[in-house]
Amino acid sequence: MTEVTEQQGEQAGAAAQLDALRERARTELEAIADLAGAERWERDYLGAKGALTAFLRSLGSLLAEERPAAGRAANALKQELTAAFQERHAAIAGADLERRLAGETVDVTLPGRKPLIGSEHPVSRMIDELSEIFALLGFQTVYGPEIETERYNFDLLNIPNDHPARDVWDTIQVETDPVAGSGVVLRTHTSPMQARTMEQTVPPVRVVVPGRTYRYEAQDASHEWMFHQLEGLAIDEAITMADLKGVLRELAQQLFGGERKIRFRCDFFPFVEPGVDFAVDCTICLGRGCRVCKQTGWLEMGGAGMVHPNVLTAVGYDPARYSGFAFGLGIERMVMMKYGVDDLRAFAGNDLRFLRQFAGM
Ligand code: FA5
Repeated sequence: MTEVTEQQGEQAGAAAQLDALRERARTELEAIADLAGAERWERDYLGAKGALTAFLRSLGSLLAEERPAAGRAANALKQELTAAFQERHAAIAGADLERRLAGETVDVTLPGRKPLIGSEHPVSRMIDELSEIFALLGFQTVYGPEIETERYNFDLLNIPNDHPARDVWDTIQVETDPVAGSGVVLRTHTSPMQARTMEQTVPPVRVVVPGRTYRYEAQDASHEWMFHQLEGLAIDEAITMADLKGVLRELAQQLFGGERKIRFRCDFFPFVEPGVDFAVDCTICLGRGCRVCKQTGWLEMGGAGMVHPNVLTAVGYDPARYSGFAFGLGIERMVMMKYGVDDLRAFAGNDLRFLRQFAGM
C-alpha cells in the first residue's frame, strides 16, 4: 500500500510538474526579444537535452497504468509548446527583418566598382605577331628549356670548351651536372634549340623559337640580364643565303611596313658560315639618320648566317646533302623599334603606366 500511495503521489506530482513547466516555458517565451534567445529557449525546453525530454525519460518511475496518461499529457504539452515557439519565432524573425530593412539603405546612384582588366605584355604580343608572320612563311613555333646544358648552349654549336667565343656570352652558371658531363647554365641565347630540333627531326626543318635568355650583363638602356630572342632555323637540300635574305626581308616588311630595306654585314658566330649581322633601315627617320638609330640610318636586330657544317655533322645531318640558315633576333629590340620605346629596362620594370600604353593597341 505504501508503495502504491507513493506512486499515486508521484503521478499527481507529474501533472503538477507539467503545469509548472508550461507556466515557466510560456512566460520565458513571451519575454524573448531576439532570434538568439529563441534558439536558446528551443534548446532548453524542446531540445534533446531539454526539460520536456527529461520529463519523458522520468516516466519510467510511474505505475505502469499511469504512464500512458502522463506520457500523453507530456506529448500534448510538447505539441502545444512547439506551436507556441513557431509562432513566436516567426514574429521575432519578421520584426528582425523589418528592423534591418529600415536600417540598411542602398544608394543606387553610387558608381559601381570597375573591374581591372589586364592586357597582353608588349613582348608577348610581339611573340604572337612573329609566330603568325613565320607561320605564313611555313615555320612552326617551338619552345625549348631556359635551363640548358653547356653541350647544347655551346658544344653542339661549334663552340668547344676552350674556345674564346664562349666569353662573348656572359654566362650565368647553374651547376656542373655530373650525369650530363657538362655544366648547366641559363641559356644565353635561343640557339641551343637548333641542335635540339635537328636531333629530333629529319629535314626539311623550318622552326622559330621564341623565349627568354639570360646573360650576366650590366643593365643599360639597350641591355638587360634577362631578355627575349627569336631563333629561326631552316634546313633542306639546296637552301642558300638568298633564302635567308628573302625571309628576313619579308619579316621586316610585315612587321614595320612594305617600304623597309634590310642590310647584311659580315659578322662572326661560330655556328654559322658565313655569318652576318642583320639590320633594318630606321623606322623613325626612314634611313636619314636620327637619335634612335644613332645617326646611322639602320637598326640592328640580330645575327644570322648559313648553318656551319660542323653543327650539321654534330647532329648527324650530312652537310654534303643538307644546308640551311639560322638567325637570332632580339625581341625587345623589335618592340622598341615598332613602338618607339627608348629604354629596354621598361619591359621588366612592372610600371603599369608604361604597360597601359599598349592596352587596346
Ligand atoms: C646571338 O645570341 C646569336 N645566338 C644569334 C645568332 C643566331 C646568330 C643564329 C647566327 C645564327 P647576339 O649575342 O648578337 O647573337 O644576340 C642577338 C640579339 O639579341 C642582339 O642583336 C640583340 O637584339 C639581342 N640581345 C643580345 N644581348 C642582349 C641584352 N643583354 N639585352 C637585350 N637584348 C640583347
